[in-house]
Parts: sequence; C-alpha cells; structure tokens
Amino acid sequence: MYEAKEEIKSRLAIEDVIGNYVELKRAGRNLKGHSPWGVDKTPSFMVSPEKGIWHDFSANKGGDIFTFVMEVEGIPFREALEKLAAQAGVDLTKYTGGDSRVTQRKVRAKEALALATKYYQACLVRNKDVCEYVFYKRGMNRGTVAEFMIGYSPASGKALIEVLKKRGFTERELDDAGLLNRFKSDMFRDRMMVPFVDTTGNVIGFTARVIGKGEPKYLNTPDTILFNKSRFVFGLHNAKESIRRNGFVVIVEGNMDVISSHQAGVKEAVATSGTAMTEQHLKMLSNLTSDIRLAFDGDAAGVNATERAIMLAGDLGIDLSVISNYHGAKDPDELIQRDPALWQQAVEERVPAVDWLLMKYEENLNLRIAPDKKKYSDVALKLLGYVNDEVERASYEEKVAKKLGVEVAILREKGERLNQKLEEAAAKKHLKKPKTEAKPDNIKKMENSLLALKIFGGITKTQIPLDAPESDARLDELELIFNKEHEEIDKPDYEKEAADLMRRYNVEVNKQKIQELNEKLAELDEDDDEYEQILREILDLQNMAK
Ligand code: UTP
Ligand code: MN
Repeated sequence: MYEAKEEIKSRLAIEDVIGNYVELKRAGRNLKGHSPWGVDKTPSFMVSPEKGIWHDFSANKGGDIFTFVMEVEGIPFREALEKLAAQAGVDLTKYTGGDSRVTQRKVRAKEALALATKYYQACLVRNKDVCEYVFYKRGMNRGTVAEFMIGYSPASGKALIEVLKKRGFTERELDDAGLLNRFKSDMFRDRMMVPFVDTTGNVIGFTARVIGKGEPKYLNTPDTILFNKSRFVFGLHNAKESIRRNGFVVIVEGNMDVISSHQAGVKEAVATSGTAMTEQHLKMLSNLTSDIRLAFDGDAAGVNATERAIMLAGDLGIDLSVISNYHGAKDPDELIQRDPALWQQAVEERVPAVDWLLMKYEENLNLRIAPDKKKYSDVALKLLGYVNDEVERASYEEKVAKKLGVEVAILREKGERLNQKLEEAAAKKHLKKPKTEAKPDNIKKMENSLLALKIFGGITKTQIPLDAPESDARLDELELIFNKEHEEIDKPDYEKEAADLMRRYNVEVNKQKIQELNEKLAELDEDDDEYEQILREILDLQNMAK
C-alpha cells in the first residue's frame, strides 16, 4: 500500500484535507489553527504543507493526512485510506500488496450493492401497490424517493441473486455485500428498500421495511466488510452539507424520520439506524458541529438514550439539547405528515438536555414529600456529575436546591458523598481491569522532545536511550516539534536542555513504573510468592528516585 499512499499524498494538499475540519491560518511557512480535539486558548495545531505533516501541541499527537483522518473521524487506517483515495481519485485496486485482497473484495461488494440498488429502484416503479405505499401512505415525493434511492425487493426468493449472478457476481461476493440470507437466498424480499449510503456516496447496505404490517418491521444488513452499525450514521451523506452550513445536527430515532425531515426542509437530520448511540457516532458528528439536538421519544427509552448521550458527550465539548414538542404525534415522521411547519418549529424550540432530563425526573414524583425529594436528588446529582463546567453546574445545583426547598450547601454535601461512593466503586473496578500499556501523555511528550533533541540538536554528551524512528513522516514530525520548541529561544543550549529533560524523564518513567507495580500489588494476596518480589522492586525504584 506504500505506493498508493504516496500517490494519494502527491495528489492531495494536506491543508485542503485538514481544512475540511480545522480553520487554518498561515503562520510563516506553516499553517496554524485550533486543535480539533482539545480546548486550546491559542492555536496549537500546526500544519506543514511542505512536509505534508501536522502536529497538535495540545493533544500531543501528529502525523500525515492518513493519521489525521483516522484520528478525527475515529476510523481505522483502511477506511481513511479509502476515503482519501476517493477524494484524490486514486483507484486502490490498481495497487497490489499487503491486503489488496480485502480492498478487492470491498470493491466487488460495493459494485454488487450499487447494482442491487438500481435493480430495487426499477422494481419499485413497476409495482403499483408498493408505489401507493411509498408515495401515498408514506407521503414521499419523487425528489425524495430519488434522493434516498428508495426501491422495492420482489417477493420471489432469488430474484436479485439471479440478476447479479448473470452480471458475473459470485456467491462469495454477494455474501460479502450482505445480500444473502443463511439459506443462500435473497436476504430481502417484498420490502421497501432504503440504502445505507456512506459519506463518500457508496451504498454499503440496506434497511428494509415490510409493506404494511409484519415482523420484523425492519430488516437491516448485518455487519459486513463494508457496513459497521456502531459507526454508521444514517442520512449523513445527504445531511453533512446542511450541518456544516447551518451549524447544527438533529438526531432522530428512525430512518424514516430522517427521510421525512429532509423532505420537510430540515436537512440536518440523521439517525443511528436501529441501534443505540455510540461514542463513535457522537465523535463523528461532533467533528461537524457542537450543536447536537436529540429528537428521541419522551418515554423511558428516550430518557436513557439522552442520559447516555450526556455521559458520552462529557469531554467532546458538545452542546446537547432535546427536541420534545411533537404536538402529540408519535415521532417526527408523523408530525411532518400532519404539518411540516410544526417540525421546523420543534427543531427551533429545543431545551438543554440537562433541563429536559430534570423535568423528566420530576414527572412521576411528588416533590412535596421527603422520600420523593430524596429520589429526585439522587438522580439529579448523578446527572449533574456529568456537567463539566463549574458555572453551569452551580446554576443547575441552585435550580435543583430550589425545587427541593433545601440549601445548596446541603445538596452539594450529598453530591460529594455520592461522588465519593462512585469513585470508590470505580477505583475497585479499575484495580480489576487489565492494565493497558499506553504511556501517559506527559511521558510521550517528553520522548518526542528528547528524540527531537537527539536527532536535530546533535546531542553527544547525554545518553538518550530512545531509537530514532524509521518513517519519514515521524522524522518530519519531530523536526516540526524541534523547531516549534526552539523558535522563541535566542541561543538554545541543546546539551543542557537534553540533560535536564532526561533527568525529568527518568523521574516520570520511574513514577509510572512504581504506579504500575502498585496496581499489580493491589491485586495480589500478601502470601502470594510474587508479592515480596514486587514489593522489593517498588522499594528499589523509590530509593533510586531519592
Ligand atoms: P420504530 O418502530 O419507531 O420505527 O423504530 P419507525 O421509524 O417509526 O418506522 P415506521 O415509521 O413505522 O416505518 C425506530 C427504528 O428502530 C429500528 C429502525 O432503524 C427504525 O427506524 N428498527 C425498528 C429496526 O431496526 N428493526 C425493527 O424491527 C424495528
Ligand atoms: Mn415512524
């Protein structure tokens, strides 16, 4: 894949790729912007167009266009490669090597799905009853049906398979595409077909609804080499332009709600098809906008989903709100059938998610009696634990205290007690968790600076026991770090800097080792053979630190 990567790099300007996500300004030979991950007060994100690399000084990571897309979209290398290949107009099948067989299989699966989509679309026009369902009962107009590529899968068991086999597709290829059931017949029969389209415009699967009544109501493509439901956002391909332009996104529950919403002019709607919202979903959306509006049902499931979203939103800097006024309709689709203007209005009348949840918690309680006050404060405090901003949290605490008729101080006291309990529980769980080998950020950062000094500062006196990276991109990145770290120093003394840094580095590494050993120790019994040994190691390390 090395050649494909180089070809893509030569065709795409890094500032254009990154410019889709980060606003960049020129700063000398480099470009500068705000970190897409952190909350940096001054721009800490640098791009070097000459070298084709980037570095984020607040999040302490960097790389080339591939690593950038991987990080910012939360996708694996393979997908980043495909995405950028599509942008660059590079045909990956031309490049053999590593795992080109998977690429080849994906290409064939996509071709099969594209053809299936066309076939289903043709079947729709030919079937009068289904047309009536789609155009009349579901109220979709021609433009919408075309935009979302709505179709119909015939009732006979092998209709699609026969068409595709005639076009040269093998059973294995159809299986890769998720078009076969376990009896090797058509997966979808007698259903309205709605394609799943990825953000580059490829069909990667389907959701298929029974015409009228039946079970299951929707049949979805299972996870395949193309489709991963915990990452897929339905409608994003059609919505991303509007989301970027208008600065907000609406997450609805059903795929049909997305389609109706677009038809009603609210083109910022997307859905997590038939599955609970995951962190990957939210991350992907938060890269487009921080104004995320949830349009879930107001029932218990909606409350849970909203709570989950608040927990996930924690560090992503998301402004979550809830759209809840459906005027008695059961979902956005039904509301739109009644009057599209009511939906447009509902999207504007959003309520901050925390306020909405506090309101929901109150619904089945009688806040004049003490036991219900306790219950309310339990759930409310747990929720406020997720509000990161001190000022925002204080304002909610006041609101809740007022509602309960108690002093804020008492509420805070209870909050601290609950928090402590949570932390203890988490600490216990943490001890049992397998340890990760990930190095803490500060150590990684020091290693970068040390390597940069070793390679570009010409250090000879201090031993720096770190190996220079082999990849050009990493070397370029280190050079960027080196230049940035010394740009404001008049006469840098690299040797002295290296010696000081090396000392601090050893202290940190030591600390880290001691912590890891302590964690290990906590899991062992005192009469375990290893216990003595680890204890001695810890004491040795502590002595060294003195
Ligand atoms: P709903 O039952 O609320 O569907 O399920 P809906 O969107 O209102 O459907 P219509 O209007 O009756 O056609 C919400 C979502 O849950 C998933 C689908 O993604 C659906 O959009 N779901 C539901 C399934 O995956 N399978 C099912 O059998 C039912
Ligand atoms: Mn519906």
